[in-house]
Amino acid sequence: MRVLSGIQPSGKLHIGNYFGAMHQYIEMHDKGNECFFFIANYHALTSTTDKNAIVEYTNEVARGYLSIGLDPEKATFFRQSDVPEVCELAWVLSCVTPMGLLERCVSYKDKIAQGITPNHGLFCYPVLQAADILIYKSDSVPVGQDQKQHLELSRSIATKFNNTYEQDVFIIPEPYIKADVAVVPGVDGRKMSKSYNNTIALFETDKKTKKSIMKVETDSTPMEDPKEYENCNAYALLKLVASNEELFQWQDKYKAGGMGYGHVKVRLAELINERFAPYRERYNALEKDPDYVEDVLRESGKKARAVAQETMEKVRAATGILTATQ
Ligand code: ADP
Ligand code: TRP
Repeated sequence: MRVLSGIQPSGKLHIGNYFGAMHQYIEMHDKGNECFFFIANYHALTSTTDKNAIVEYTNEVARGYLSIGLDPEKATFFRQSDVPEVCELAWVLSCVTPMGLLERCVSYKDKIAQGITPNHGLFCYPVLQAADILIYKSDSVPVGQDQKQHLELSRSIATKFNNTYEQDVFIIPEPYIKADVAVVPGVDGRKMSKSYNNTIALFETDKKTKKSIMKVETDSTPMEDPKEYENCNAYALLKLVASNEELFQWQDKYKAGGMGYGHVKVRLAELINERFAPYRERYNALEKDPDYVEDVLRESGKKARAVAQETMEKVRAATGILTATQ
């Protein structure tokens, strides 16, 4: 099975990214799937024009994935921009994509509701995402819940293209969304997201991690009273890192009362810092080895590009678009 996913270099990686997406990537290549993972730098241009930020976060995402165990021998791990054919395909696909499909996209509507003045790139973001997925003939796309609609769009666009040109050029991809980690809450209880400023960063010092965790919003039930763990943000995060045995003990403490939310947060910080310590160590070591990181991305980019070029030949032939190189 061919697995593909992308992540935007639009901010610091956070534990929502890790549990919602990155962890699944590693699992999938460990199971022997053929994996393509990439840094979606063209997508990031839809939300920033800060050149230094794009460069910095591209590097953060690259080191981030390599440090959590992504093995460049097993997975093709590259930059989106090392395969310019993806932009060519996005144009072709946008010519079979009905406007209505894009107008209905929740993530686009959300951004407008936040007061962002949309650019055209943001509007057609899902078409570029469809190009990313379809150009590599991906079967399965591991993502968090927020990407479900974009995946549905990729499927519709692939089907529309195949029907319009009466050829099975594209495989119809399946989303892979793990239900129990589909939406990791941020410190304010909303979905953890770089754009909400509510994250717990993945590659941070123990001290700063604890500081972010102490900000997790909880209700004002007094210390001595029993508390509900089901709707508690701190407990929702604890579920990601604590053993079942420990979780049962916490459930009892919530129900019994006499325990403050501060206790839960301190333990949560401990567990998160323990869990990510080896990754953070590798991440920091990779800062001293930029040539290695660049080599991985460049070599993988070549492999990915060869696959993309093959698909584009079929797309050009199907659509009647001729180029001098054919
Ligand atoms: P952000 O919302 O912080 O900008 P991205 O859009 O870059 O995150 O998401 C990268 C990947 O991480 C996607 O597959 C996305 O679904 C997943 N992801 C992001 N935030 C969360 C979250 N809070 N819970 C689960 N998965 C998430
Ligand atoms: N839209 C995805 C996100 O914000 C990133 C992305 C771009 C992606 N292209 C993709 C994810 C292709 C999966 C497949 O998280």
